[in-house]
Amino acid sequence: MNFTLTEEQLAVKEAAREFAQKELLPGVIDRDRDMIYPTDQVKAMAELGFLGMMVSPDYNGGGMDAMSYVLAMEEISKVDNSCSVIMSVNNSLVCAGLEKYGSEEQKQKYLTKLATGEWIGAFCLSEPEAGSDATSQRTTAIDKGDHYVLNGTKNWITNGSSSSVHLVIAQTDASKRHRGINAFIVEADSDGVSIGAKEDKLGIRSSDTHTIMYNDVIVPKENRIGEDGFGFKFAMKVLSGGRIGIASQALGIAAGAYELALKYSKEREAFGKPISKHQAIAFKLADMATDIEAARLLVYRSAWLKDRGQDFATASSMAKLYASQVAMKHTVEAVQVHGGYGFVKEYHVERLMRDAKITQIYEGTSEIQKIVISRDILKGNLYVPMNN
Ligand code: CAA
Repeated sequence: MNFTLTEEQLAVKEAAREFAQKELLPGVIDRDRDMIYPTDQVKAMAELGFLGMMVSPDYNGGGMDAMSYVLAMEEISKVDNSCSVIMSVNNSLVCAGLEKYGSEEQKQKYLTKLATGEWIGAFCLSEPEAGSDATSQRTTAIDKGDHYVLNGTKNWITNGSSSSVHLVIAQTDASKRHRGINAFIVEADSDGVSIGAKEDKLGIRSSDTHTIMYNDVIVPKENRIGEDGFGFKFAMKVLSGGRIGIASQALGIAAGAYELALKYSKEREAFGKPISKHQAIAFKLADMATDIEAARLLVYRSAWLKDRGQDFATASSMAKLYASQVAMKHTVEAVQVHGGYGFVKEYHVERLMRDAKITQIYEGTSEIQKIVISRDILKGNLYVPMNN
């Protein structure tokens, strides 16, 4: 096993760390408190190439591997998870979905702008009555020959108001259940698209999460992604990659909280010595470091499988499940290490604790990840597939 990062990967990690610490950290508390969309920060991420990292240079992307993407996500997520979710959705749901499954015309028209961050994309799957149960889509796309007519409501949409392009999953033929579902590229300024109010969330408060309504929206037939009926598989396959992004976000949250707790515990004194010298705190730090390292191995491994062109669906679900549990557990511990200071915004750990919760919910709840994992192992796939 080779755990060595390449020079390019290390350079990406370093660039992302510097950007996060210098450009994102100042102002992150205010943006979070007041739910201010990070306009300048997203522009800077675009300029640095963080919004289309894995897209081929043929479509204006960075041509990087999934491992580099994970390293950048981890560093940015140590500081600002509103920025990292915007980055994750654009990279691993929207750009990755279009690059892998879109037509050449779709890639030229949309991916070339999404990969540079000139446009931001949204992935519109969840509905008021179809979140985890993604086959039960109520949004309809009726086939009218040369176009579809789209009607329905999507909710919890990241990049809801900032996106120029929506990838919308909708039911074309309900009698075929999931095989009647299609995925469409919808331009956000199309007639009949309307955006609801910004959600007032527990965490990732400055990212723009909205309900989106589609009312008789005309979608040209050439904007359907893949063959008729491919939409559900498209969504599932894309989400498997998306889960690598959210797993790396969860890893970054846990690691960020740990770094803060470690630093604070060396500075803060009680009973005549730094609190890190008290076993009660030292053991917490040891547990944190061990669990974070285990999560890191799962997350890096899912990226490694993806980079080798191997199946990573179960690996990314395992990474997301475990890293999000670690993020939740150890952000709570990081607050505890900080004592009263952990409970106020200035010390950043309370924000990371609030942010951690969403990683157990979006792009499939923890329970959904357990469905994906258990189905695979019950098929007899004993899970040591290093060479699968
Ligand atoms: N890759 C390829 N195909 C897949 C697949 C995958 N990962 N998962 C399922 N499929 C296929 C199956 O093989 C099956 O195909 P066939 O009929 O041809 O055999 C078909 O899809 C239907 O599969 P299931 O019968 O397993 O479907 P299900 O409804 O029982 O369960 C599920 C699927 C795993 C529960 C799925 O619904 C799921 O993942 N739900 C969670 C959805 C989710 O993650 N939502 C988050 C919204 S996006 C978001 O949060 C974005 C954001 O803004 C941050």
